[in-house]
Amino acid sequence: MTLRTGRLVLTPPTEADIDAIHLACQDPEVQRWTTVPSPYTRQDAEQFVELTAERWQSGEELTWAIHDATGLVGMVGLHRIADGAAEIGYWVSAAARGRGYGAEAGCAVVDFALGPMRLERLEWHAVAGNVASARLARSLGFRFEGVRRQGTRTAGRREDAWLAGLVSGDDRSPVDWPVLAPLTSALPVMRRRARGGRALRAGAAAR
Ligand SMILES: CC(C)(COP(=O)(O)OP(=O)(O)OC[C@H]1O[C@@H](n2cnc3c(N)ncnc32)[C@H](O)[C@@H]1OP(=O)(O)O)[C@@H](O)C(=O)NCCC(=O)NCCS
Repeated sequence: MTLRTGRLVLTPPTEADIDAIHLACQDPEVQRWTTVPSPYTRQDAEQFVELTAERWQSGEELTWAIHDATGLVGMVGLHRIADGAAEIGYWVSAAARGRGYGAEAGCAVVDFALGPMRLERLEWHAVAGNVASARLARSLGFRFEGVRRQGTRTAGRREDAWLAGLVSGDDRSPVDWPVLAPLTSALPVMRRRARGGRALRAGAAAR
């Protein structure tokens, strides 16, 4: 059940990960956007590791601790596995964000889910407004499917939720999502810069 990528090793979490999980889950972003308990105690981390081991046994949920060369950097899981479908969830510790780890680990799990596990559909759910998570899901090929009004309960209150899906036959190239800036939005800027660059060079030549 170990998955390897260029920089990361994904394994079921063990007791050796408890301190790092406890530390990472103090992060307000993890507490804001995921369903981890808040406040998050060391006992919560211990129970989490116990529970994930039980769920690996029963097959209802597969959770991997993400490690880079320095140690634990995140968690990624397939939840509510049933009837050929599952829900993907993830967090990356604050210090390790923005390096592509979420996308790298997520891609390995999607490959595993739609490959050897032969799942037919993956779902992604998030609190509406979680742009970082949405962009990660979009980069994995998920397609936006809508808003579930008051569809999630996090941090003690119900909020709207975004839903996206990926099915086994999908081309996994990222597509635009209506709630995110378009993927092509950089293009006109690049074109403007290119035109500006040419104009500047032309101006320089004229002088
Ligand atoms: C969401 C999260 C896992 C992203 O992890 P990461 O390792 O930083 O993500 P990556 O570096 O692989 O980036 C993946 C994509 O997300 C985008 N992204 C990452 N952080 C972002 C941010 N703060 N704001 C906007 N976009 C962001 C990246 O630009 C990239 O998108 P692109 O391919 O369109 O450029 C991380 O921010 C996190 O743990 N957040 C708190 C917990 C959480 O929200 N979990 C998800 C609950 S649904």
